[in-house]
Amino acid sequence: MHAIGVDIGGTKIAAGVVDEDGTILAQTRRETSPDDVAGIDKAIAEVYLELSGSYEVSAMGVAAAGFVSADRSSVLFAPNIAWRDYPLRQRVQAILQNDDVLVAVENDANAAGWAEFRFGAARDVDDMLMLTVGTGLGGAIVSNGKLVRGAWGVAAEIGHMRVVPGGHYCGCGHEGCWEQYASGSALVRDAQATVIIQPERATRLLELAGGDVEKLNGPQVTQAAQEGDPLAIELLAELGRWLGEGAASATALLDPALIVVGGGVADAGDLLLAPARNGFAEQLSGRGHRPEAKIVVASMGNDAGMVGAADLARL
Ligand code: BGC
Ligand code: NA
Ligand code: ZN
Repeated sequence: MHAIGVDIGGTKIAAGVVDEDGTILAQTRRETSPDDVAGIDKAIAEVYLELSGSYEVSAMGVAAAGFVSADRSSVLFAPNIAWRDYPLRQRVQAILQNDDVLVAVENDANAAGWAEFRFGAARDVDDMLMLTVGTGLGGAIVSNGKLVRGAWGVAAEIGHMRVVPGGHYCGCGHEGCWEQYASGSALVRDAQATVIIQPERATRLLELAGGDVEKLNGPQVTQAAQEGDPLAIELLAELGRWLGEGAASATALLDPALIVVGGGVADAGDLLLAPARNGFAEQLSGRGHRPEAKIVVASMGNDAGMVGAADLARL
């Protein structure tokens, strides 16, 4: 049976009809804003109507960047979007005036990790950790072939493990979360700070941002690094190091066979992953005396959240 998968990003939602092999048969998108939660509901209802008009679908999975309840109906909390105890399924059903639409809300990183496990980079292992490096740092754990949800649905909120006591303030209200050191937002924050403090090192970055440091974004840092800009390379390497060192700690807990790195920043490829592998190797306990997880880049790119949400909605 086909299912619809919806991936809610910061400024847009992407939706598709997905078949049982994870193939996307049709796609659509809408612009949204992270502050306008009612607008997000409306956009989800719209893409459902559009896609279900041409395909027979059994369910809709919605991937949301936040803490999702165990019954897959609400977003309990989100650090970077204005959801608080938000009954997302009910709101979407109310707009559609249809209680029969099966709406399954999933954490965005869990959805992406599930897609990589079923169809992507981790399809040959039973135990994996997914890290999505975007606006936030998301996590998904598959253990013994099962997605780990925890008691209340909010397992694998790995971006909010504290890595620096008294460190950078996080959208979750705490300080020093891993996400503040290993995410696209952290990358942009540090890049902007360097442009201001050491402008002589940042001429290429400032140029790519059109001369306005406020407009500097993650893809521009990646582009500069790919061109060989030393500062951009260093910024990505620092992020990679945080990622790898944190992954070593996570490995102490989980012992995954594979660590899959996705999200927008993963487009930087080895500029991010090589330093991550070094940080991981340096911090892994018992190294040399234990089999070691490989760190690889996600293979499903931007589609992972959509495909995983659709697949999970069928279960
Ligand atoms: C949120 C997670 C989400 C991740 C990636 C984090 O800040 O707490 O729920 O999966 O960002 O979007
Ligand atoms: Na997660
Ligand atoms: Zn946090």
